[in-house]
Amino acid sequence: METFDINVSAAVSDETVAALQSEGTAALQTVLEGTGAGNDFLGWVKLPSETINSDLVEEIMSVANVLRAECEAVVCIGIGGSYLGAKAVIEALKGTFTPTKPEILFAGQNIGEDYLADLQDYLADKRFGIIVISKSGTTTEPAIAFRLLKAQLEAQVGKEEAGKLIVAVTDAKKGALRKLATDEGYATFVIDDNVGGRFSVLSPVGLLPIAVAGFNIRALLQGAADMEQICAKPGNPAQLYAQTRNALYRDGKKTEILVNYNPKLHFFGEWWKQLYGESEGKDHKGIFPAAVDNSTDLHSMGQWIQDGERTIFETVIYVESPAREKVIPFDEENLDGLNFIAGKRVDEVNKMAELGTRLAHIDGGVPNIVISVSELSEYTLGQLIYFFEIGCGISGYMLGVNPFNQPGVEAYKKNMFALLAKPGYEEETAAIQARLK
Ligand code: PA5
Repeated sequence: METFDINVSAAVSDETVAALQSEGTAALQTVLEGTGAGNDFLGWVKLPSETINSDLVEEIMSVANVLRAECEAVVCIGIGGSYLGAKAVIEALKGTFTPTKPEILFAGQNIGEDYLADLQDYLADKRFGIIVISKSGTTTEPAIAFRLLKAQLEAQVGKEEAGKLIVAVTDAKKGALRKLATDEGYATFVIDDNVGGRFSVLSPVGLLPIAVAGFNIRALLQGAADMEQICAKPGNPAQLYAQTRNALYRDGKKTEILVNYNPKLHFFGEWWKQLYGESEGKDHKGIFPAAVDNSTDLHSMGQWIQDGERTIFETVIYVESPAREKVIPFDEENLDGLNFIAGKRVDEVNKMAELGTRLAHIDGGVPNIVISVSELSEYTLGQLIYFFEIGCGISGYMLGVNPFNQPGVEAYKKNMFALLAKPGYEEETAAIQARLK
């Protein structure tokens, strides 16, 4: 197994964290044995080990290869858990300035009219495919994007050909998308009932787009499966993470900042924010999940983190080796005064920025958890994904919430439908209009 390590420099004492050991072990058992709230959404727990040698991987590869052979671009339509995992993995693995082949684009994760219009213009002269992902099959944002892009694709290549370039990932039986896919004869994959959106990246929801982008989904699953095995035992690193963050929370640290020093991890932070925010922010409880990209954000958020209210802690994702090598050149005139680092790799400077920041933050009262991986690869991303997923389940139970539901997400939808006068919302429409008078 490639390096995976967790190191905790927390302001709470080792004893405090150790005192949470039995609570953490009980929470782990609750996840593994399926005895807690939301236990009908635990399909993700064994997903890596159950998927890695299954026919499903072959089926995903074969559909992915069709899209890879046929399309210049593939638009993945989905929101929340139906897009963030794939986006996080693809962004972490692809070249920063080079699109994958085919290029992977995302839609349905916002209702931006400019975004959709710009996307449609961009696709106007391209042969493109669509992966439409929605577990419920009824979510407004992806449904709008799909309606627009389906019409565009049919206009560009004809209805029959379009049907071969559209893949739907949705519920086995329910929802508008399942019905449409059946009627139109699209290739489909199923999102199992017991896998919630934010825990679905290692299902076809994430695996299909990642495979279409050309990345090795078996290696991703292998990293996750190895972590699954490690985390099946009490005292595992994810349990330690859950215990530490709960100890800090109880000590007044209400915000956790996920920190990276590699811009490729920006969307990993977005995926993590959804995972922890939607799982733990309940019953007026929960650590607020934030994320920064350093050293960029040291020049914007650095002041607050170093010196603002002492209610935060950080979890740093430390990548030991970058994929590329760049050495800082020597300059005869040395006007910028940088010759003292000439000959060093850029990453050596980045590492010193990371270490210097960590020490300064610890000195300034910001506890740090460091999670190290050897490199960014499919394998290590699989490790990280499973680590954070099971850490989230354990942590949510320690916090005393159901980590697997998301009742709060419905409130904005209810108001939006009332404001748009959706049939069936007549009473709500009247009430909201009266309120706005
Ligand atoms: O984690 C979740 O459950 C949510 O973020 C959903 O993934 C998101 O709301 C999209 O739902 P759906 O896949 O049903 O369109």
